[in-house]
Amino acid sequence: MKRKEIFAGNWKMFKTCSEAVNLAQELISGIKIKEGREYVVFPPFTALKVVADTCKGSALRVGAQNMYYEKEGAFTGEISPVMIKDCGAAFVLLGHSERRHIFHETDALINKKIKAALTYGLQPMVCVGELLEERESGKTNIVLESQVKGAFEGLRTEDMKNISIAYEPVWAIGTGKVATPEIAEEAHVTIRKYISELFGENVANALPILYGGSVKPDNIEGLYSMENIDGVLVGGASLDGASFLKIINV
Ligand code: 13P
Repeated sequence: MKRKEIFAGNWKMFKTCSEAVNLAQELISGIKIKEGREYVVFPPFTALKVVADTCKGSALRVGAQNMYYEKEGAFTGEISPVMIKDCGAAFVLLGHSERRHIFHETDALINKKIKAALTYGLQPMVCVGELLEERESGKTNIVLESQVKGAFEGLRTEDMKNISIAYEPVWAIGTGKVATPEIAEEAHVTIRKYISELFGENVANALPILYGGSVKPDNIEGLYSMENIDGVLVGGASLDGASFLKIINV
């Protein structure tokens, strides 16, 4: 079975509104659309609406980088799923390692956010990945299992149609140290196995699992050639139009 591919750029805390719109326009005119492939950018909240407006009618889709799980209320500084939808976004990135490690998000919180995103019609892209010391002490699979099972606890099989996972080993994020295609492939197979234990083989086989962590134009081909790598989530190299286009047009 051929799985859906997703090629995504996480702009993190970069780009003013005008810079974000310029980059989105450059991407829209440079994408060589491939069947079965989706293209998504995750601008900062401040640029979400203008980028979504720019992307209307194009192949480029838009997502938010985070979200709170309540619809509205006295939660100063937070953004709700309804607000994200209202901006024209279709996706939301949840459980990014920077959210987990800098802002101390737990699997239980991420689970609540995933459920709220689905309730309001957003497609969660859920990030998992181990720290360097966890990999070096042989704990990668235990970490991936608890992150996957914690994130998807209580979800129904049909919810999984709207979910994608990004495997982002923390030691590879922003470090220039990309996982080898073989290391990434092994982790993707492991994640798929945990999904299969939760939701069965059909769901696991249909689920897009992306790799993220120092993806660049010169390493995309090796990663993309692996059977279980269904796309990529790119940070640094997605901030420059020419370099991101080389990646998404692979
Ligand atoms: P880099 O591509 O900059 O390593 O970032 C990866 C990432 O965190 C994407 O979400």
